[in-house]
Amino acid sequence: MEQNRRDFLKASSLLAGGALLNPIQSYGYNSAVDDTIRVALIGCGGRGGGAAAQALSTSQNVQIVAMADAFKDRLDQTYSNLISKKYKNAAGAPVDALTKVKVPDDRKFVGFDAYKKAIALKDVDVVILATPPGFRPWHFEEAVKNNKQIFMEKPVATDAPGIRKVLEVAEEAKRKKLNVVVGLQRHYQANYLAAIKRIQDGAIGDIVGGQVYWVGSSPWMKERQANQTEMEYQMRNWYYFNWLCGDHISEQHVHNIDVANWVKGGYPVQIQGTGGRAVRTGKAYGEIFDHHTLDLVYADGTTISSQCRQFEGTWNKVDEAFVGTKGRIDSFERKRTVLKDYKGGVIYQHDDKGDKDPYQVEHDELFAAVAKGEYKFADAENGAKSTMTAIMGRMATYSGKMIKWDEALNSNINLFPDKLAWDASPKILPGPDGLYPVAVPGKTVVI
Ligand SMILES: NC(=O)c1ccc[n+]([C@@H]2O[C@H](COP(=O)([O-])OP(=O)(O)OC[C@H]3O[C@@H](n4cnc5c(N)ncnc54)[C@H](O)[C@@H]3O)[C@@H](O)[C@H]2O)c1
Repeated sequence: MEQNRRDFLKASSLLAGGALLNPIQSYGYNSAVDDTIRVALIGCGGRGGGAAAQALSTSQNVQIVAMADAFKDRLDQTYSNLISKKYKNAAGAPVDALTKVKVPDDRKFVGFDAYKKAIALKDVDVVILATPPGFRPWHFEEAVKNNKQIFMEKPVATDAPGIRKVLEVAEEAKRKKLNVVVGLQRHYQANYLAAIKRIQDGAIGDIVGGQVYWVGSSPWMKERQANQTEMEYQMRNWYYFNWLCGDHISEQHVHNIDVANWVKGGYPVQIQGTGGRAVRTGKAYGEIFDHHTLDLVYADGTTISSQCRQFEGTWNKVDEAFVGTKGRIDSFERKRTVLKDYKGGVIYQHDDKGDKDPYQVEHDELFAAVAKGEYKFADAENGAKSTMTAIMGRMATYSGKMIKWDEALNSNINLFPDKLAWDASPKILPGPDGLYPVAVPGKTVVI
């Protein structure tokens, strides 16, 4: 019967030919036959494991049925974590973890092409893409090619060719009516949704300025181990290499830059900025900067300033603030989400009572849509354009030039290795002193 369900789906998609009917309508999750939504997890690290657990905690009947990772130890660790968690069925009763995490050894795929094997599985309905962002364009392309519903983490690429690929595949996903949720979870967070809706409705007038921040400490770093090839070392220590990570301006600060774009209702036409490596200068930190500041200039001339830095022992702030012609918002922290006029009057104050964890909400909503056969989410285009904004910021700080949107998006600088294999060379290599080349503003060419 399961096979019949799949065949029906395949046949009805094929029937529709080029102009697919909504393929999801024929999944029949709610049929008496089988309402299970089967998930493949691609990228079994911290976030992948978290996203899988959130998928399993929705009120749908979800199972993880395949896992793929470049490294066996990462996959095994996340599998162990997932089977040691407590789960409930749709009726809220506790269930054995092994009924939710059904991943036999022949469905645990390892290596650079592991993603293809997991995505190709016919019984997989939804894929979670949670590798480092450098791989996202290829994994997204494969998922759409195989008609999967998608949750993919931000950022969605690390260079302009990758962004163009995501934009192209996003169109195909729309054409096929495949839901795509991107992990820019502020779009699923009640206080952001409520305040930004009011801003868009004119509550504080036209937005004429603002600041967005991700300033704080340094994340994890993995030391080089004996006998590692350069490819393995960079893959393990991926945060510090642009082909994998995109620099922290994109990896993390994309969240805040995306909020600026959301509030402005568009993407910057030009960006200039400055940055460098002030503190984190050792060879373990690859090629990325440890601080960046930007002027994001929008089509109406508004400048939003952006700041991100990763210095230990310094002031922390991950937040956004905007000024409008009639009022302002100073913070999006849950309890401080207040729109005010210039006399101090409160226009809107968010009450966060009952607000849900946005990481859970994005899965609740995606899986509810899949179960109902609804096509509701097309986040990839904004995910790509906000990631592009962050990459454009990196281009500005690395070069010290004014960078325009069109020239940045059309850049042919491709950071991805020509070949993916453990003994292949990434494009960036250390010098004889073990240090990697780092951008020099005024000299480095980025477009
Ligand atoms: N939305 C959020 O708030 C949020 C929070 C944390 C992480 N993230 C995003 O999630 C992604 C992963 O971050 P993380 O913290 O889980 O990193 P991580 O290093 O813990 O996990 C990444 C996993 O992907 C695997 N991997 C690498 N290349 C692969 C490939 N080609 N094929 C299959 N597997 C591969 C790694 O071995 C690792 O297990 C990043 O894009 C990050 O920005 C988002």
